[in-house]
Amino acid sequence: MFGRSIGCAPTLREKLLAAAFAEEEAEHSGRLCKLFEDLGVDPEAVFRERPPAAQFWSLDLDSWVHIAVFNFTVDRAGSHQIMEYRDSSYLPWAEAMGAVLEDEEGHYGNGVENLRAFARDKAFFAEFQKVYFGMLPITVKRAFGRPTGADNDYCVKVGLKRHTTEQVVNRYLEEMLGYMREVGLKFPPMTAFDAVGAELMPSTRAILASNQ
Ligand SMILES: [Fe+2]
Repeated sequence: MFGRSIGCAPTLREKLLAAAFAEEEAEHSGRLCKLFEDLGVDPEAVFRERPPAAQFWSLDLDSWVHIAVFNFTVDRAGSHQIMEYRDSSYLPWAEAMGAVLEDEEGHYGNGVENLRAFARDKAFFAEFQKVYFGMLPITVKRAFGRPTGADNDYCVKVGLKRHTTEQVVNRYLEEMLGYMREVGLKFPPMTAFDAVGAELMPSTRAILASNQ
């Protein structure tokens, strides 16, 4: 996915940024592979089991608007998950995530910058909004998973993560909302979340309903 963004980027500056981000994401993946190896898990076996990114995220990542929405939406959802592990009770994980989050701040800064660039042109912005309507519901479902469950409860209980999924999703959406209000971007209608089977807590629905 991050390699494709280099080809799709419309300017030399964006191509160089995309290449730098791709290198950083590869380094982040390397850190996770090391954590797997420490636990006796073969990262190649994990990788072989994973579906292709485009299939997992239900995306055509073949145009700049898709990449821009991805960077604003999906990449930041990952960051909010990583924020949880920064304070994880599993110390090797916590230590590996600090530098990752520094890089991810740069990625999100670029995502917001591109949102503002799209917002300067009415037709481009309409396209951004359309792609965002399709991408956010899948992101909420895929990046955060079910808002409740025994696995979540266990992770919070033993301190692997520090907040419930409901809290993490809401923090992600509220951060996003600040940038959305600035340019007039709307959340997708609730029917779009229901259509993909994204489970939402009442507090999450309230945030979404506040800007539709
Ligand atoms: Fe990133």
